[in-house]
Amino acid sequence: MIQEEIRKAREKAILKALDYIEDGMIVGYGTGSTMAQCIGYVKKLIQDKKMKLLFIPTSFQSRQLLLENNLPVTSLYEYPEPDLMIDSFDQTDREGNVIKGGGGAMLMEKIVTQASRKVIFIGDYVKLVEKLSRPVPIEILEKAYPHVKKILTKAGFKLTLRESAGKMGPLVSDNGNLLGDVDAGVIEDPEKLDKLLRSIAGVIETGLFPKLADKIIIGEMNGSIEEINVDRKKL
Ligand code: A5P
Repeated sequence: MIQEEIRKAREKAILKALDYIEDGMIVGYGTGSTMAQCIGYVKKLIQDKKMKLLFIPTSFQSRQLLLENNLPVTSLYEYPEPDLMIDSFDQTDREGNVIKGGGGAMLMEKIVTQASRKVIFIGDYVKLVEKLSRPVPIEILEKAYPHVKKILTKAGFKLTLRESAGKMGPLVSDNGNLLGDVDAGVIEDPEKLDKLLRSIAGVIETGLFPKLADKIIIGEMNGSIEEINVDRKKL
């Protein structure tokens, strides 16, 4: 259960992000509880302003959420360059380095983030930190697990495989891969760590998003919002 205070802080960030949605847009739609909270506001916006929008989901959860709310979904095949991506995150610093993937959806989230013209991440004050320090989610090819574990251990990191709650054994991602979390302590150089993790054969993607958004909107405890404008790294 999300505490009421956090729910209210997230609401402020959600409402600010909606200012960036325009009629006719193709919108990448993120994953997680913040985006679940966001869906009612998106529906109201569409109804109030009589907008026509199409959404690109970033996970099974995201697609179900959109469909259950009768919002039309499409894909990168039809629209390889969405106008806007809106998503949440697990941790951010003020430089725009972000950790995502608490819900295990970081692979598709990173693809749609990279593909989109404008990217806005929204979150609450609990997620804003001086330096990133959460374990970094990674998606791992199952056959490569022993190799990935060995290399990470050798490098001094602790890899914890995510376990499934509904079956024996590991959690499997939307893409049929394993999910794990790499404890790297306080992360001094997020971009360097992201590169290092991705250089290990079998690591498909990481939840590190170093300066991949244009804007990060934080809902504060006192009802205000903080906007972090990022010098986004585009390909
Ligand atoms: C999903 O894999 C994540 O990247 C989410 O965006 C992130 O975990 C934030 O989720 P909540 O909105 O549930 O905190």
